[in-house]
Amino acid sequence: MTNAIILENVSKRFDEVWAVRGLSLTIRGGSIFGLLGPNGSGKSTTMRMMLGLVKPDSGRVSVHGIDPAQNPVGVKRIIGYVPETPRLYEYLTAAEYLDFIREAYGVAPSVWRSRVAEFLEAFGLSGREGELLAGYSRGMKQKIALMAAFLHRPRVLILDEPLSGLDPKSARLVKEMLHKLALDGTTTIISTHVLEIAEAICDRIAILYEGEKIAEGSPEELKLLSESPSSTLEDVFLKLTGSEDIRELVEALVR
Ligand SMILES: Nc1ncnc2c1ncn2[C@@H]1O[C@H](COP(=O)(O)OP(=O)(O)O)[C@@H](O)[C@H]1O
Ligand SMILES: [Mg+2]
Repeated sequence: MTNAIILENVSKRFDEVWAVRGLSLTIRGGSIFGLLGPNGSGKSTTMRMMLGLVKPDSGRVSVHGIDPAQNPVGVKRIIGYVPETPRLYEYLTAAEYLDFIREAYGVAPSVWRSRVAEFLEAFGLSGREGELLAGYSRGMKQKIALMAAFLHRPRVLILDEPLSGLDPKSARLVKEMLHKLALDGTTTIISTHVLEIAEAICDRIAILYEGEKIAEGSPEELKLLSESPSSTLEDVFLKLTGSEDIRELVEALVR
């Protein structure tokens, strides 16, 4: 598989705060790539730069050869995005909302109807599609946002903390769906501050801390960074972010 997304030495500052600093990433097509880090570590900003919603101050971003800062519309055509807090049109029904999204992406109604029915069934929302989104719970809205992102079969999925608010069964379903899509070549970038999620879903993980990448590798490789073979990703994470000494050491190791 070729590379789907490349970030080269990308930085973004908001006033005094470096949201992202000197970040380079190479994300292979058909992989599930995790951005793991505590709140404020730059995960959402990184994703927003891939989408052309935020322009980097310096460095370059490429999504299947498209520079999102130059061509924000072109890049959105090939990406399905679920933001941290999806904003849906609350006074549409779920069916009306999904149809609106269908029109925006120019997908044929017939193709769409079968896909929507499948998804509604899988997420346990069959029969609820005629209700106003305003009356939906957070988890139900999250499912509709995920459906809207998946339904046009984008080449790249960008999911910002997608599993928070989902019940365990739906979270498992999303995981399975991502693995299935990966087999077809879909690339997924998923952010999370939950270590178990990154470990369970991702082929490769970059750990961000204060806007910088402090480690990158497969879940197994990241575990090797700590000296104890039985350590969990959580141990690694705490080691990496817990103390300046260890942070420097690991930075030297992964350079
Ligand atoms: N639009 C913005 N204006 C000002 N500061 C921002 C903005 N977006 C992000 N930041 C700051 O950048 C840092 C990284 O934020 P973010 O990318 O949202 O991190 P994460 O998603 O990992 O929680 C934080 O300190 C945040 O306050
Ligand atoms: Mg975030």
